[in-house]
Amino acid sequence: MAGRLDHVNIAAPDAGGLARKLTEALGMEVVKETVVEEQGVKVIVLDAGGSHLEITEPLGPDTPVGRFLSKKGPGLHHIAISVPDIEAALAKMKAAGIALIDETPKIGAMGNRIAFAHPKSFGGVLIEIVEGEAD
Ligand code: CO
Repeated sequence: MAGRLDHVNIAAPDAGGLARKLTEALGMEVVKETVVEEQGVKVIVLDAGGSHLEITEPLGPDTPVGRFLSKKGPGLHHIAISVPDIEAALAKMKAAGIALIDETPKIGAMGNRIAFAHPKSFGGVLIEIVEGEAD
């Protein structure tokens, strides 16, 4: 379904510590832990019933999420919306004047093709589009 909330992402200096709180206090379950070297992050993914909660921890201060943490501190990093065809979605967004961070798709933590749009185009929130459905 286009427009489904695929995941919400929180940037944290200690992803494991936050994931433990979510599992112990809210009963959430970790479904994946991975390192995405090219984005400089460790990612822990929790099941959120048809969507996911992702926690990203930077691998170092000189990474996009490392710089986000030093500038803004821990907190909401982005929201991801699913689209059936990412090329078509990018073309439509471009035509609508949306500022894109990624003009072409890259591979996300769950192996899907993803791209980011600039927060200035979406109410100050960093929006990721994800091709296909979450499992
Ligand atoms: Co994401």
